[in-house]
Amino acid sequence: MASDATAPTVPPVRSLIGVIAEQRFLSSSMIRIDLDLEGDASYAPGQFCMINLVGGAALSLSRPLSILAANGTRLSLLYKIVGVGTRLLADALPGRKVRVLTPLGTPFPARNNERPRLLLAGGVGLPPLVSWAQRYGDPADLFCFGARDGADAPWELLPSPWHVSVDRSREIPDGREAHRGTVLDLALDCLTGRTETFEVLACGPRPLLQAAAEFAHQRGWLCHVSVEERMGCGYGVCRGCVVPTIGDIGWRLACQDGPVLPAADLDWKSFGMAPASEEGSR
Ligand SMILES: Cc1cc2nc3c(=O)[nH]c(=O)nc-3n(C[C@H](O)[C@H](O)[C@H](O)COP(=O)(O)OP(=O)(O)OC[C@H]3O[C@@H](n4cnc5c(N)ncnc54)[C@H](O)[C@@H]3O)c2cc1C
Ligand code: FES
Repeated sequence: MASDATAPTVPPVRSLIGVIAEQRFLSSSMIRIDLDLEGDASYAPGQFCMINLVGGAALSLSRPLSILAANGTRLSLLYKIVGVGTRLLADALPGRKVRVLTPLGTPFPARNNERPRLLLAGGVGLPPLVSWAQRYGDPADLFCFGARDGADAPWELLPSPWHVSVDRSREIPDGREAHRGTVLDLALDCLTGRTETFEVLACGPRPLLQAAAEFAHQRGWLCHVSVEERMGCGYGVCRGCVVPTIGDIGWRLACQDGPVLPAADLDWKSFGMAPASEEGSR
């Protein structure tokens, strides 16, 4: 199905120095980091930045993190410690200098029609969809987030109307509910009685993206997914983030053509069948 998505206005890429204003855990595994940059932090939902520490123990390569929010020169991200880079970032104290290349990549399409959206987020795939919901969300949309358990969900980013699903019903805060099962099970439940044609936006681990693409395809709905490959440069030079697509040249760069791509353009046989070890830890 051809996409009628409208690309949102994307601010120019800037290389900015900033300082860490605050870091705090929003769940058992997810850390929110707020940065005060030396320039404008604006972005479009779905875009990401490349971040590195300045001075002291820094990384040879910056790391890509999605943008959760921006306000003036304040940039906020949400991340999980998975390896050396995110560990170094988590250990950095307020006042530590960072270098940020931002905003990068192709964002999620802006809302350009009346169709309701179904947002499917898994783990630290949440930031782009929280920011999309804040900018374009509509009461007819369905916002679904999946976590391992209640302790792993950053509840303060998930006020009503976000729906939450968990693999294990542990540590659900008082007054909140969580569906037991996958985020797709949750979506099916939320869709009961809804007859409209939705558009799907998904971000999270690769199996979630593949399931979201299949879910949309079966219903003839448009679907955009945010793909997260390992990235060297983040802006199209190293060619380290190739994803297989169908037709024409047969590949796209996750950092420039994506991270948001129409699900129908991806070659899921090659992309979705990657070994579990490469499916990331999101
Ligand atoms: C466009 C984009 C947006 C991202 N947004 C976020 C975000 O908002 N929050 C967040 O926590 N993470 C996000 N990631 C993933 C994040 O970039 C990696 O977790 C991070 O680079 C790991 O660095 P490290 O040095 O800590 O781990 P490494 O030591 O480099 O790797 C540790 C483990 O993480 C895996 N890994 C590394 N990079 C990726 C990747 N890009 N995708 C999947 N698995 C990876 C490795 O295969 C390895 O198993 C995003 C990635 C991309 C490409
Ligand atoms: S990360 Fe270097 S080309 Fe995409």
